[in-house]
Amino acid sequence: MFKAYVNGIELAYERCGRGTPLVLIHGYPLDHTIWNPVVPLLEASFDLILPDLRGFGQSGTVRIRFLLTDMAADIAALLDNLKIKTAVIAGHSMGGYIALAFARCYPSRLLGLGLVASQALADAPERKAGRTQEEEHILAHGVWDVAEGMSIKLTADPVLQSKLKDLMLQQRPEGVAGALRAMADRLDSTDILSSFDFPVTIIHGLADRIVPIERAREARAAVKKGTLVEIEGVGHMPMMEAPQITAEALNTLH
Ligand code: MLT
Repeated sequence: MFKAYVNGIELAYERCGRGTPLVLIHGYPLDHTIWNPVVPLLEASFDLILPDLRGFGQSGTVRIRFLLTDMAADIAALLDNLKIKTAVIAGHSMGGYIALAFARCYPSRLLGLGLVASQALADAPERKAGRTQEEEHILAHGVWDVAEGMSIKLTADPVLQSKLKDLMLQQRPEGVAGALRAMADRLDSTDILSSFDFPVTIIHGLADRIVPIERAREARAAVKKGTLVEIEGVGHMPMMEAPQITAEALNTLH
């Protein structure tokens, strides 16, 4: 992987393909490799940039409290480092929350936005409280229980469940706990959706057990130039469960 030193962190990223810059931001608690199935389907149209977020994969870990806007600032600094002014930004779930934070902070740098299995809403109070408990549990006992509990909710495919569980077990407790806190602290982005002048593509599995399809429909209703692709029989991991459909939808953004 390539490495860039941004905002005091060593950020690891993959880069391949040619065309319009497209940053693919992974979700929680995973890393850039979730996008591997769509990379061959996108690299003819896009200059693909696939970072591991701070605390995940091969990137450095930050031990002080941070926000999703700080993770969005890492992406902006990575683009600066690569001398890229504007890009399409697409994010999976938490990666979508970060893409929305990027859109709030740097609207003029966006050529388009992709939300994959994500939402614009902030956490309800009970979800926030649940995240605090999870964070304490992870810092005390590691990521085992999160990997065990979450893998079966991500997809109905047992082979993929086991692959994702292994990937989650590779993540560091400090990074996972930091991201949980940042998600709990995130702002509701519904207010900014209608201000977007760039195209928005929303991709969502009808069998998503983490973020229900209604959240995607609400986001679609709020944006001016948007497409929603609903995928039958797919859960929270469209890029792995239905790479062809996911790539076709993202390809409309170049
Ligand atoms: C994710 O898949 O990135 C997270 O589970 C999203 C969330 O917990 O809100």
